[in-house]
Amino acid sequence: MIDLSVNFAGVRFKNFVTVASGTFGFGREYSEYFDLSRLGGICVKGLTVQPRDGNPPVRIAETPGGILNSVGLQNPGVDAFIKTELPFLRGYDTRIIANISGNTPAEYALMAKKLSDAGIDIIEVNVSCPNVKAGGIAFGTDPCLAAEVTRAVKTVSEVPVMIKLSPNVTDIVSIARACEDAGADALSLINTLLGMRIDPRTGRPVLKNITGGLSGPAIFPIALRMVWQVCSAVSVPVMGMGGVSDTEGALEMLWAGASLVSAGTALFKDPLAAVSIVEGAETFFRENNMKGPCDIRGKLKLYD
Ligand code: FUM
Repeated sequence: MIDLSVNFAGVRFKNFVTVASGTFGFGREYSEYFDLSRLGGICVKGLTVQPRDGNPPVRIAETPGGILNSVGLQNPGVDAFIKTELPFLRGYDTRIIANISGNTPAEYALMAKKLSDAGIDIIEVNVSCPNVKAGGIAFGTDPCLAAEVTRAVKTVSEVPVMIKLSPNVTDIVSIARACEDAGADALSLINTLLGMRIDPRTGRPVLKNITGGLSGPAIFPIALRMVWQVCSAVSVPVMGMGGVSDTEGALEMLWAGASLVSAGTALFKDPLAAVSIVEGAETFFRENNMKGPCDIRGKLKLYD
């Protein structure tokens, strides 16, 4: 009997496959393509205290093997999410992870309290958004600030707190350890890599924001390396993401030590990508006479 379920920071997920924040909205559009209950969990679009329109367009640019985005945290605000979107998502048998971004530790705490009281399953604390002027990545590139935000959220949250790490750092392990020491229940990584494109005919940046975050298959090897490094250094569970497009990539994340795996940009090409990973993983474990993720998680076979 194959068992894809995972106990992640005390929360049971029916399977280890989730969808990454910012690639799934609040699930409504994808619900027209498949039953959202087939997912282990859904990380919703990043929330802020107040509604945000996001950055002015152009804010998406294609690249070979990925896309650049500078969306700028467009969202309806945490209160509207709790009132309008969460009841819709609760109509499905899947875990709901709320991603939050603040300008200050106090803003993170304010949102965490509201979401915790609303009964969200896990709070994903985004200290890694590269597209906003205040907060965001500034908190995720300094171990002390990342720890300060972690403590602020942990103080008010009754549900597990997961910190989403930025790859735009010299040493991601030091940030991961700082968050763990500050009480984080879990970590998620990686967010996007800072990049840019220029229109060669006009000399203008393609993105109005000039820079944006790179996601998609191009970043997968970097994400895998960082997930492996962090999983080797911390005790809390890790949700691995960054260019995961198929079952093979998801299995690689498990071998590297991830407990949950998120598909993201792949969903723009194939809305069923995450569901295909669930099905592909079942086939893999069955064909290899394994029970499930527990047979390979963190069991990377190093050379002598
Ligand atoms: O710009 C954005 O909305 C992206 C957010 C993020 O990468 O965390």
